Amino acid sequence: MKVSVIGAGNVGATAANVLAHGDFCNEVVLLDIKEGLSEGKALDMWETSPINMYSTRTTGVTNNYKATAKSEVVIITSGIPRKPGMSRDDLIATNAGIVHQVTKKVIKASPKAKIIVVSNPLDVMTYCAFKTAKVDRSRVMGMAGILDISRYKSFIALEVGCSPKEVQAVLMGGHGDTMVPLPRYTTVAGIPVTELIEKDKLKAIIERTKKGGGELVKLMGTSAWYAPGAAAAQMAEAIIKDEKRIFPCCVRLNGEYGMKNIFLGVPVMLGRNGVEKIYELDLRAGEKKLLKKSADAVKNVMKVLDKMELKY
Ligand code: NAI
Ligand code: 2OP
Repeated sequence: MKVSVIGAGNVGATAANVLAHGDFCNEVVLLDIKEGLSEGKALDMWETSPINMYSTRTTGVTNNYKATAKSEVVIITSGIPRKPGMSRDDLIATNAGIVHQVTKKVIKASPKAKIIVVSNPLDVMTYCAFKTAKVDRSRVMGMAGILDISRYKSFIALEVGCSPKEVQAVLMGGHGDTMVPLPRYTTVAGIPVTELIEKDKLKAIIERTKKGGGELVKLMGTSAWYAPGAAAAQMAEAIIKDEKRIFPCCVRLNGEYGMKNIFLGVPVMLGRNGVEKIYELDLRAGEKKLLKKSADAVKNVMKVLDKMELKY
């Protein structure tokens, strides 16, 4: 089994490193346009294999898609990250062209691949990859929900003083400030979170989660990579191992939640075929309203992509 990661920057290299340590792929190919970058990072990773005791071969290439041929899964992280003061949506002008070009080459080299998009603005870049790849919606998905929900769970664990392993939650919507963490579906070892955390504190955690990406951009001058890279690798692992895991992922809705032709984060099952099932939760009026607001924000940026002159 081969997984390719396009873009050997912060997120791509982290995803490749997590995948290699997982030791469930034969090969992880890292590809970038910067000469030597992928080769160097893949070699450095390979040199950790005797220390960390894994066999997954890590290979780095410069813009050579032949090396990615017949990948089971391809993770697209190529594109610019945001800088302080920028929103994810500000990246569309640059990243749409990159994701479009990259997807064309990826699907040519690996016509059966499942594609996981990471580049921002996430929901719209997933739409861009879907339009370009022209494959079933089950094979093109975006990574954001696992990251956002992981931030949410980690903040809850800090507040409760428990292991993050105990926290279960659902989060939906676009990858932006309108994302919708759902306290009604949040538990700590089965105990409703509302019985453990006061209302105001939970509200503050939800607000911190929504702005979690921005918090890190402010601290580091660029966006995060450890949690995003691990989240993308977790999606690839669920597909490669046919795990049937249930995660919030960005997918194309086709009537679910009363919405069509929109890319939005919802709970899905991931297995060998990619997105194998979309879960439609029985949302309450207030939750539906929040999800609609988030969908409207995504739709506005999808329209920007539709107006761009890209040859699909
Ligand atoms: P980075 O700048 O560290 O790495 C991006 C890499 O893409 C660079 O090495 C660059 O040379 C490469 N690249 C650019 N054009 C390319 C092309 N045509 N073909 C191959 N490689 C190309 O950026 P970082 O931090 O890794 O972020 C990557 C993207 O992921 C950004 O758009 C960022 O906003 C997004 N992101 C998304 C998250 C999510 O939750 N969906 C979380 C974190 C980042
Ligand atoms: C994040 O949420 C920037 O989307 C990226 O960290």
